[in-house]
Amino acid sequence: MMSRRPLIAGNWKMNCLKSDGTALAAGIAEKYAAAVNPKCDVLVCPPAIWILPVVDAVKGRIAVGAEDAHAAESGAHTGDISVPMIKDAGASFVIVGHSERRTDHHETDAEVKAKAEAVISHGLTAIICIGETEAERDAGKTIEVCRTQIQGSVPDKATAENVVIAYEPVWAIGTGRTPTTQDVADVHAAVRAEIAAKLGKETADGMRILYGGSVKPSNAAELMALADVDGALVGGASLKVADFWAIIETCL
Ligand code: 13P
Repeated sequence: MMSRRPLIAGNWKMNCLKSDGTALAAGIAEKYAAAVNPKCDVLVCPPAIWILPVVDAVKGRIAVGAEDAHAAESGAHTGDISVPMIKDAGASFVIVGHSERRTDHHETDAEVKAKAEAVISHGLTAIICIGETEAERDAGKTIEVCRTQIQGSVPDKATAENVVIAYEPVWAIGTGRTPTTQDVADVHAAVRAEIAAKLGKETADGMRILYGGSVKPSNAAELMALADVDGALVGGASLKVADFWAIIETCL
């Protein structure tokens, strides 16, 4: 099996003013720079308005990403931000299809796919989020929902280099609740099998699949130890240097 380098990614969502965000990013970047032979990649995804100062603050030591992007290159889309702008600001990843975007902005799989295509066409890496709601889980549809989202949201041109999948059960986001490790292991294995069906085994074996949803220092080690879990997409616990670093340390 191809070895996959874990990625610990922080999704700040709509949090942090400039001084908090730059201090947080610089704090993580300094610790990472001091680590000897780190065995994982680290990414912070601030609100778009802070990408530029955060890129300055991390001094190239860790990666910076955006939380969303428009699928178009430019044009009449008031309030939106394009992938070329994100790239120009120095970011290298873009989260697409987060459940909060799918819910708050009614983003469909087709829109998420178009965004992911824009991200990879500009040489950046797309983090494509999938995951079931609590009602879908209760109805026993978790794997079916994830498979449909993969088929609908992942571009045909996706490779292990330009796409990362983030499995985030919607009911586990910001709630302190997480699936059992067996459930996470089962879903990640099913996600990898579906990627293999769509893009081939080699691509699937190399592609990173992150777990997201109430990852914290106390549960990170157990989740990160699972065979098909290649890192984490962290919300709340990525907003404090000590907590985010403790999660990073489980893969360091
Ligand atoms: P929490 O870690 O706050 O549950 O958020 C997870 C998430 O949505 C990351 O994208």
